[in-house]
Amino acid sequence: DCQSASDIVIFGALGDLSRRKLLPALYQLEVSGLIHKDSRIVGAARQEHSLEEFKSIVVENLTNFVNETIDEQVLTCFINRFVYQQLDFKDSASFNLLADALANGNKTRVYYFSTPPSIYGDICQGLAQANLINDADRVVMEKPIGHSLESSIEINNQVSKYFTEKQTYRIDHYLGKETVLNLLVLRFANSLFTNNWDRNSIDHVQITVAESVGIEGRWGFYDEAGQLRDMVQNHLLQILSLLAMEPPADLSAESVRAEKLKVIRALKPINRENIKDKVVRGQYSDGFLEGVAVPGYLNEEGANANSNTETFVAIKAEIDNWRWKGVPFYLRTGKRMQKKHSEIVIHFKQQPHNIFKDSYSDLPANKLTIRLQPDEGVELQMMNKIPGIASQMLIQENKLDLSFSDTYKDQRVVDAYERLMLEVLNGNQSLFVSRDEVEAAWTWADSIIEAWKTTNEVPKPYAAGSWGPVASISLIARDDRQWVE
Ligand code: BG6
Repeated sequence: DCQSASDIVIFGALGDLSRRKLLPALYQLEVSGLIHKDSRIVGAARQEHSLEEFKSIVVENLTNFVNETIDEQVLTCFINRFVYQQLDFKDSASFNLLADALANGNKTRVYYFSTPPSIYGDICQGLAQANLINDADRVVMEKPIGHSLESSIEINNQVSKYFTEKQTYRIDHYLGKETVLNLLVLRFANSLFTNNWDRNSIDHVQITVAESVGIEGRWGFYDEAGQLRDMVQNHLLQILSLLAMEPPADLSAESVRAEKLKVIRALKPINRENIKDKVVRGQYSDGFLEGVAVPGYLNEEGANANSNTETFVAIKAEIDNWRWKGVPFYLRTGKRMQKKHSEIVIHFKQQPHNIFKDSYSDLPANKLTIRLQPDEGVELQMMNKIPGIASQMLIQENKLDLSFSDTYKDQRVVDAYERLMLEVLNGNQSLFVSRDEVEAAWTWADSIIEAWKTTNEVPKPYAAGSWGPVASISLIARDDRQWVE
């Protein structure tokens, strides 16, 4: 395999992301035997801890966040890789301590920035000052990369002073999801779809990423961002670009990222002139989820009761290119919606002529549904004859359903972070977002945010537990279409 031994340094090793996702992901890679035997895991965090304390925090965490029983033997190997270094990220002198910890370590280092982006620059400076950056090293950055084009340029500039684009891995964890990766297979390994994937065959596309959770515990952080910056600028646009891109020549990072970039750049700008017909902004109010009363956004703990931050967005996105002219991509995403439910629905065009009028006056179009999560799978809605002797041809809509949990019964569900960690260790950038993509996505998102500002657009309320503001239904109904629930 292409992996060489490395020192994996996690900045913010005791933070939420690291405890919930990164350390459990590394543990699972250990279980699968996918970490080089000589690799080490170096936790760097602000708190003072002995190595033993750090190890026991990690063990406790794994018990909480790994779904299976922990394998004691694997755990011992895993824990033996650990090093802990207390660090003041803003004090570059303290990076000399890190240099001591890394002395005699592995040549390749993977620096994982699991901290607020505002200190990425400080960490880079500290590393450079302590002479800790080589050509073989890699840097992994979490979103958000800025909150606008301008701030993302600033962050990327700070990091690119020390690391080349080839060394830089920008995480969008949706790209590590099984069902998102499967979009490539669905589109490019099935001629039926490859040959019908354009404006001639497709009427429109719906992408829904709904969550039932609210903003517990991170109100202040979320309020600075809102759903457009938190979900649309990254996750939804990544899904959209994989769905809409031209066939890449191969699966290399260069090919795939170049095609995705073209899609993002071809998105029709939304601005104050056209925003009214294209975007709905919402914020959840008090409501019920599965029968239980839940507070509205402004009544959550730590909330500022005057906030105008959106927790829901619906967008009619259009791609101005040859393949997609006239095919809207309707996006919607929100917190505190009825259930956790993410799916893509491709609505094909209706048959031009109906010879079954006697039994079915309005033939429904085929629909391809890609269930991203939960209940992962792919289903195709199609018409079928109802068996029977009746002389009139009775037909009905039915579905071919490929459920992943039924089809791949014995497969463990791999978390997105496991795959992404492995790709970093293997040095493959295909599943990471290029700087150009981040900037093109911000350019498009910024224009919407700017239009909200200049038109004083206040989010429309929707009851927690619903599917979003009524205006979201009108957005698509205006085009004689409707959301698939
Ligand atoms: C994160 C967002 O990037 O994705 C969160 O910041 C969101 O607000 C999360 O809840 C959703 O991820 P997933 O994997 O649960 O769909």
